[in-house]
Amino acid sequence: MYKRKKKQLKMMLINHNKKFVKHIIERYASFSTVNIQTKLAQAGCKKTDDNNNNNNTDLTPPIHFSTTFEREKDLSYLSHIYSRTSNPTRDLLEETIADLENGTDCCSFASGSAATSSLLTAVGNNSHVIIGNDVYHGTRSLLENVFNNWGLFHTEIDLTNIDIIKNEVETIKTQGKNVILISEIPTNPSLNVPDLIEISNLLRNYENCIHICDSTWMSPAICNPLNLGVDMVLHSTTKYMGGHSDLLGGCIAYNKQGNDTNKYSQQVFDQIRIVQQQSGNVPSPFDSWLLLRGLRSLDARIARHCENAFKIAEYLENHNAIYKINYPGLVSHPQHDIMSKMISNNNRYGGMLSIELKGGMEKAIDVSSKVQIFKRATSLGGTESLIEHRKSIEPENSPTPDSLLRLSIGLENVDDLIKDLDHALRS
Ligand SMILES: Cc1ncc(COP(=O)(O)O)c(C=O)c1O
Repeated sequence: MYKRKKKQLKMMLINHNKKFVKHIIERYASFSTVNIQTKLAQAGCKKTDDNNNNNNTDLTPPIHFSTTFEREKDLSYLSHIYSRTSNPTRDLLEETIADLENGTDCCSFASGSAATSSLLTAVGNNSHVIIGNDVYHGTRSLLENVFNNWGLFHTEIDLTNIDIIKNEVETIKTQGKNVILISEIPTNPSLNVPDLIEISNLLRNYENCIHICDSTWMSPAICNPLNLGVDMVLHSTTKYMGGHSDLLGGCIAYNKQGNDTNKYSQQVFDQIRIVQQQSGNVPSPFDSWLLLRGLRSLDARIARHCENAFKIAEYLENHNAIYKINYPGLVSHPQHDIMSKMISNNNRYGGMLSIELKGGMEKAIDVSSKVQIFKRATSLGGTESLIEHRKSIEPENSPTPDSLLRLSIGLENVDDLIKDLDHALRS
């Protein structure tokens, strides 16, 4: 009798567990097919490692501050060993970003520049790096001041010209080097737009060439470069993904099942993971958690950033104090059509723009001194609008025009922002 009861109970438990496992599988199978807005709104809302076998799912993930994890009596580990190598909060963040970018894997870092630095460390000096001639100055400085000293050299070219890229790749290939092409969508601060699809297709014709796109200014709520054939996508998560100017972070996402046939990109990604784990170039559990929280509102924030930026760009386009406006959402932008084919939502061209003023550097500095709502600060992607005279913060050899002001458009009332700019431009 007792034996029968025990068997019955055991069967009940097995069936219950099967049901539970089926429920989880169904839940996540359907989760992977939902739209990005749904994924973002529930970022991190998922069962995490829990040593107490607690089957509840926290709707807001816990923060695992522990740097070390207990070993079993037989010296095995349940999952984590030490937080430099892996940490439950960081793992959840990486899984979440990989999914948002339609990738299979993601490495997170202490900052966007830390992500670039880890990539460059991983590729080693048997490679040659191609960057845009109007790249984010921090990427150029990392190469010039750090990696060139170790024999990893680079070339700066116009990444909007496919013939120039082809020539450069062929020159590097005759030297027997691997090619690491880093693009930006769009470039910082001139907002030029390389054709990611065309560049990826070109590189696929050569062995050991990879294309990494810095999509910080787009975020996954506007564009997914992995869907366009890019091998890896890099972000400074300090910006839109965090979204509140209160954390530093970076990431590189990768799709193992991507269409790279020579598997060079897999080798590089594996090496990036080694660099991340062995150097401890990681975000803290708290920054990882803040980033997961920021992601939940990313789609709603991006919608407003883009809407405000578009209205401001339209207002500035015909302003007589302005010599040039750089915003890919305007039909007059030289790569408007290229940008339109790469974004997943037709109305979203980003929250960043730059203007070049007729009165040169003096006028630009004067305008930035007169704004009252825009904050004079570097960085971007927060809820508050920022204005910045770029040339005075970039290194001397930067090609940024003297008269350029970069604007990060926030979530304020757009009429207030336009009034603020109008007053500063007129007086
Ligand atoms: C396009 C781009 N990539 C990378 C970075 C570097 O990011 P972080 O400041 O997080 O190191 C920045 C910073 O402004 C950026 O604009």
